[in-house]
Amino acid sequence: MYEEHFGLSDKPFKLSPDPKYFFSSAHHDRAVAYLQYGLSQGEGFIVVTGPIGTGKTTIARSLLASLDSSIVAAQIATTRLNPDELVRLVGAQFNIDVEGLSKADILKRLEDFLHQLNRQGKRALLVVDEAQNLPAETVEELRMLSNFQMNDRPLIQSFLLGQEELKPIIELPEMEQFRQRIIASCHLRPFSSEEVHGYIEHRLTQAGWSGRPSLETGIFDKITEYTGGVPRKINIFADRLFLYAFLEDLSEITMKDIDAVIGEMGEELSGSLQSGRAAAASVIAQTENSELTDSDEVSANALSGLSEDDIKRILGDVTHVMDQVIQRKIKIIRYLDKLIASKKSESKKD
Ligand SMILES: Nc1ncnc2c1ncn2[C@@H]1O[C@H](COP(=O)(O)OP(=O)(O)O)[C@@H](O)[C@H]1O
Ligand SMILES: [Mg+2]
Repeated sequence: MYEEHFGLSDKPFKLSPDPKYFFSSAHHDRAVAYLQYGLSQGEGFIVVTGPIGTGKTTIARSLLASLDSSIVAAQIATTRLNPDELVRLVGAQFNIDVEGLSKADILKRLEDFLHQLNRQGKRALLVVDEAQNLPAETVEELRMLSNFQMNDRPLIQSFLLGQEELKPIIELPEMEQFRQRIIASCHLRPFSSEEVHGYIEHRLTQAGWSGRPSLETGIFDKITEYTGGVPRKINIFADRLFLYAFLEDLSEITMKDIDAVIGEMGEELSGSLQSGRAAAASVIAQTENSELTDSDEVSANALSGLSEDDIKRILGDVTHVMDQVIQRKIKIIRYLDKLIASKKSESKKD
């Protein structure tokens, strides 16, 4: 919506993990270095954990985008797969026809495929995302896959990415053999305020930002506090912030604007909507208790059990919700006006 207005070539805060926007924080760099180290070793498991939205999938995509043709990679994002389903999915991801085959048959075909890669001087990499969903016996199946070997070298290597729940799975006593094969593991953390600053400006610059709107330095501490420094939350917030800046025709984003957007988002999630609902619910509850059918009398009756202060408070809440809705509608109309104006000037150019 706001990209054109600010001269951006792309959506700077889109949620898809696009390598073009990759920002090298210390933790992300470290995770990438571990994965690359793993690749150079050609064996063993690398495990990357981190809270949701901290960039695990993004890191995997960046890594996959940087691979040369000697590595044939497949990525799976798991739900709760049992070992059979895992083998089937892995086979399918490597383009093996698994239709109607038993697990043993699929494993045989997979092995043939891996040997064939080996003869071509290539090897296979399996990236397992959302690995915290895997039951322990399925993680164990992954270890079994690493037993496909040629001259003592594994033919397939796996990287595991998952939320924090992956850690206790790996720490189970029966996972000892798996643990021994882990050659490196790391944990992603949310960004510090300094990194949030770097991250936002980096994404904007990648999208062609020329400094408009400008960003007041103080805002980054506040954004870090509100989002906990989690990239996914930062993207959602920054996207709203830029939409706000566009609708309000801002040339600079200041603390005041951060507060306004936090207020708007907070209210959408809880705040006024809830108090509006509570007000409506209390009127409805009163109405339902009444036997009357005539609508005026119903509402009069509904309000009759309430004190004057209650009524004032409810009306205040309802008015506040209405004001918010009207404000939002005005913004949308302003936006549509702008959009029509820009489309008109575009069609004149043509
Ligand atoms: N280092 C990074 N550089 C650029 N964008 C990132 C980075 N880390 C996370 N993101 C962004 O944050 C969002 C969530 O990242 P994602 O990789 O999906 O997190 P996770 O897989 O850990 O849940 C995505 O929009 C992604 O573009
Ligand atoms: Mg992910």
